[in-house]
Amino acid sequence: MALNKDQAKVLVVHGPNLNMLGQREPEVYGTTTLKAINASLDELGKKLGLLLETFQSNHEGAIVEKIQEAVGEQNGLIINPAALTHTSIAIRDALLLLDIPVIEVHLSNIYKREPFRRKSMISDVATAQITGFGMQGYTMALEALAGMVH
Ligand code: DQA
Repeated sequence: MALNKDQAKVLVVHGPNLNMLGQREPEVYGTTTLKAINASLDELGKKLGLLLETFQSNHEGAIVEKIQEAVGEQNGLIINPAALTHTSIAIRDALLLLDIPVIEVHLSNIYKREPFRRKSMISDVATAQITGFGMQGYTMALEALAGMVH
């Protein structure tokens, strides 16, 4: 399918355990739920003229398949692969299928935490990385993408 630049499409992918935001380590990840994050992205997407799709999975393969489906369909991708950031060559390889801007987002500053979180398997194949701004990181990513895909 040809990409429609008038109504650019952006996919937002959330990885494992992000469905538990709000309850999960609020001192690290804040108290905002994933539902609220997605709702505010939806609202911002409308203002920016973007057609937004959000997806969360706790399964690496499901995320790989969702990225594969984005080929030729989506104009931009925001992804927080959560713990899979640090381990998943499969997600990295799937991202290499895309020739659209990809923004890697982390709620926490992954460079300020345990050493195993300092390595991202995807940062060098992403267009940019936003880390440590909490939920604001997602809105920053969407605003940046709007400028890239329009
Ligand atoms: C995270 C950071 C990861 O290290 C962690 O495993 C997550 C969330 C973040 O958004 O700060 O689940 O990606």
